[in-house]
Parts: sequence; C-alpha cells; structure tokens
Amino acid sequence: MQTNSSHKLHVAIIMDGNGRWAETRGMPRSAGHEVGADTVRSIVRTAIGHGIGALTLYAFSTYNWQRPEPEVAGLMSLLRHFLLVEAPELRRNGVRITVLGRRDRVPLGLARAITAAERATAGGTRLHLRIAIDYSARDAILSAVADGVTAEALAERLGTEDVDFLIRTGGDQRLSDFLLWECAQAELYFTKVQWPDFGPAEFDAALADFAVRTRSFGAVPAA
Ligand code: IPE
Ligand code: IPE
Ligand code: MG
Repeated sequence: MQTNSSHKLHVAIIMDGNGRWAETRGMPRSAGHEVGADTVRSIVRTAIGHGIGALTLYAFSTYNWQRPEPEVAGLMSLLRHFLLVEAPELRRNGVRITVLGRRDRVPLGLARAITAAERATAGGTRLHLRIAIDYSARDAILSAVADGVTAEALAERLGTEDVDFLIRTGGDQRLSDFLLWECAQAELYFTKVQWPDFGPAEFDAALADFAVRTRSFGAVPAA
C-alpha cells in the first residue's frame, strides 16, 4: 500500500456483521462478537504494520442499547475484557488508546477499564486507536456546539480528526450516525464480508482500493 509519507492516514471502520456471521453458522450472536474481537486484534496489528496514524473503530452505538439485555451485557463485558487484556501489549507497541462516546451509561467495570487503558497508553505515538462506545455522532456534535464554536474548535471538541477512509463491513451501505463531521471528505468503502471474516488480506484490498482513488475535495482533480 502506498501512503503519502507526510500525512498519516486515519482509517475508520464500522465493524458490522458479527450477528449474521454467527447466525449463518448456527451459533449465538455472542459468538460472532467474540470472533469479531479477534478480528480487531488482527486489524490493529495490520494497521501498525502499515504505519497508519489513526484507526477509529465503531464498537457500540448509542442505538445498540435497544438490543436484548444479554447481548448488551455480553458486549460490555467483551469490551472491558478487550481493554484489560490488550492494553499492556498495545502500550508496548506504541499504541495510544482513547475511547469516544458517553461514559456515564456503561457499566462501572467498563468505565474503569477505559480510564485505565487510556492512562496506560497515553504515551503511545505510533498508532492512535480510538474505540467508539455508546457513540452517536449527532450527540457528539450537539454537545460540542453547546455555545457557538469555530469549525476547528468543534473538531477539537469532537476529539477525532478528519477521516480519510471509511470502511463498513457486513453489506449495508450507511453511516449509522458514525463520525458525521469527520467523514465530510472521506472515501467510503463497503464490503459484504462480515466483520469476523475481515482479515488482513481484506484490509489490504480495501487499502489498495483507497490508494488508487483520486481525491478532489471539490476542486477539479489534477489531470
Ligand atoms: C456489529 O455486528 C457489532 C455491533 C453493532 C455491536 P452486529 O451485531 O450489528 O451484526 P449484524 O449486523 O446483526 O450481523
Ligand atoms: C453500526 O452497526 C454500529 C456498530 C458497528 C457498532 P449496527 O448494526 O448497529 O447498525 P444498523 O442497525 O445496521 O444501522
Ligand atoms: Mg449490524
């Protein structure tokens, strides 16, 4: 993959399709989420290997609270477990973890794991891994604009950077209220591959697709 050396890429991923992946295999949806967590590990490693600057992952949307309580509880516990188990190795690999979204509605154990992971990895400069939990882009924008702000100050308050490349797995072609502001000029990539099957080869194929696109930002593209 070719990336412009002066600008480190920000890749955002809507990790969709865990439930369908499990259901088509006669497994409970929770099994799809567990395999999906393994996919996260592998994709983070791949991102580090490619020198990607920032990776923002949509793990749990504000709308996902509407799911059955056992599935929600399973996801909360999986996220907590992921942060507790992965933070030390991510720290060793120079990854800084931050979490986007509301903190006041997640279980206390997860809230603590978030704070601990953020503190432990605060010095990481290689890859900025952002995990969106109880996240809604609309909520994020609304709380950021509470009192008139500039675009720059708004971006700062939203706590992320402009997305260069947005990937959604699972076959649906929508944003689901993810990073609305930040995706203003993002290149979009939709794949039918379900998240648990999205391995380094699929990630590479997506990045290769991005690498040959012409971004014009409203101007006439250079010939
Ligand atoms: C994405 O997979 C994970 C979360 C939204 C938490 P889904 O659980 O939405 O999987 P599908 O879309 O039902 O297959
Ligand atoms: C989007 O997936 C949110 C995450 C991947 C965390 P959903 O499965 O929740 O989105 P919809 O319901 O298909 O829009
Ligand atoms: Mg889904």
